[in-house]
Amino acid sequence: MDIPDVLRHALREASMVTAFTGAGISAESGVPTFRSADGLWKKMRPEELASMDGFLRNPALVWEWYAERKRIIAEVRPNPGHLALAQMQDLFPRFAVVTQNIDNLHQRAGSRVVHELHGSIERNYCMACGHNYSNEAVLAMTGVPACTACGGRVRPDVVWFGEALPDDTWEAAVHAAQYADVFFSIGTSAVVYPAASLPIMARRAGALLVEVNPESTPLTPDADVFLQGAAGAIMPAVVECVQRERKGKR
Ligand code: OAD
Repeated sequence: MDIPDVLRHALREASMVTAFTGAGISAESGVPTFRSADGLWKKMRPEELASMDGFLRNPALVWEWYAERKRIIAEVRPNPGHLALAQMQDLFPRFAVVTQNIDNLHQRAGSRVVHELHGSIERNYCMACGHNYSNEAVLAMTGVPACTACGGRVRPDVVWFGEALPDDTWEAAVHAAQYADVFFSIGTSAVVYPAASLPIMARRAGALLVEVNPESTPLTPDADVFLQGAAGAIMPAVVECVQRERKGKR
């Protein structure tokens, strides 16, 4: 695919590049997105499954859903989109991934700096005493997992609707947006705040804003470059383009 000149030039000069990702980057690994035609939120109610109220009302239902997602995510593999971002970290002096995903696929692909805005499906903790539990431990418990130390309720370490993002992660994400020379927004519908404010923040601070998505989103009119298509096809082409430029071939 053709990488527009403006992007090629910006990548040649860039000292910091940030990739902001959403469920779409994991779609090609087989992880369902939330808002596509067959997305999770078309079939399930987020307020029942991904909110503290929902959890307190019916913890068994919420745990059943997370246990299923944990099993699915344990089996999937990073796709060429994740792998391309892992390659990109070695092509620029500074590179960060800021993700809304909880699936750990960036880390499994080899990305070293990953700011997880919405937590991680790999972690769980006791709401009463904070004790941490592995997936293996919680999946071995029957019914709603209870803390073996204090008897409190154990929950997945993910951010639910209505909950604040972890302070330190948010600060790191804002920094990665404000100091980026090129900011990629990949596979996100860009509608969930505050995460969705990062691309605009980056652009206002001077970054070239690049969107990668098969469909347009509310962010598209603000993007300097819209690369329409699947992340697994486009991001490897971006990497190839940077490598070619580096070798001075073109
Ligand atoms: P969405 O499901 O809202 O959006 C996924 C986006 O990925 C859509 O814009 C798709 O067009 C795009 N997409 C699909 N396949 C793609 C592919 N192969 N390559 C690139 N893009 C593709 O998911 P998010 O934007 O991540 O929050 O949703 C944001 C948050 O809403 C999630 O983190 C989650 C959810 O509720 C919480 O649970 C707190």
